[in-house]
Amino acid sequence: MATATFRIWRGEKGQGQFQDYTTEVSAGMVVLDAVHQIQAEQAGDMAVRWNCKAGKCGSCSAEINGMPKLMCMTRLNTIPLDKPVTVEPMKAFPHMRDLVTDVSWNYEVKKRIPKFQPRKPDAPDGTWRIAPEDVDRVQEFRKCIECFLCQDVCHVLRDHHMHDQFIGPRFLVYTAALEMHPLDVGDRAELLRKDFGVGLCNITKCCTKVCPENITITDNAIIPLKERVVDRFFDPLSKLFRM
Ligand code: SF4
Ligand code: F3S
Ligand code: FES
Repeated sequence: MATATFRIWRGEKGQGQFQDYTTEVSAGMVVLDAVHQIQAEQAGDMAVRWNCKAGKCGSCSAEINGMPKLMCMTRLNTIPLDKPVTVEPMKAFPHMRDLVTDVSWNYEVKKRIPKFQPRKPDAPDGTWRIAPEDVDRVQEFRKCIECFLCQDVCHVLRDHHMHDQFIGPRFLVYTAALEMHPLDVGDRAELLRKDFGVGLCNITKCCTKVCPENITITDNAIIPLKERVVDRFFDPLSKLFRM
């Protein structure tokens, strides 16, 4: 049986250090399996958040060899095992213990986004008619599992800590799902510009690269939202027509 070494961040509230654990590994294991094995055999007090082990709950987000990833979806045969595999907590949120961060800021952000506001029903039976292609446009945004890996990698939050001015890619996706919904009549353009900080995204596309659901965050959600804001506030023609 082969072994591999995992260099895991241990500590509390931002203070701590890496600790090496060598454990047996076998074909088909994912990083979360190795972490659980270490927890069971060598470090019973190690804190790690997980739930589904199937890439659907978004709980096991961490940084593996410096890349934001889901531990339960990172197979050991996709990473080099000839040197220690580093496993660290996400960096964009307050550290709690070991691999666990406090992601509650994200839930507070979500509360600030005006909810779905459907237009009046347009069919005699009191329901709506919508074109399939209009539904398709927002469907990919609904795949989000709220793992917050995109929030973790975005430099505006991770390096510049502008959490009070920028809602981050996850919540721009959420806002885009509402704004582009064929039934929604809500208007979030002013909020996007002033409170949600859509202009702070400089289209680095790092968020799109780490999304485990392969949502085309930048091109399909953020850029159209930016265009909406530009059309509304900076385009002289649309300004004229609104007068
Ligand atoms: Fe995770 Fe993708 Fe949702 Fe961001 S958009 S929270 S990376 S699933
Ligand atoms: Fe950040 Fe994604 Fe924009 S990583 S800068 S939100 S393209
Ligand atoms: Fe649910 Fe990894 S444990 S996404």
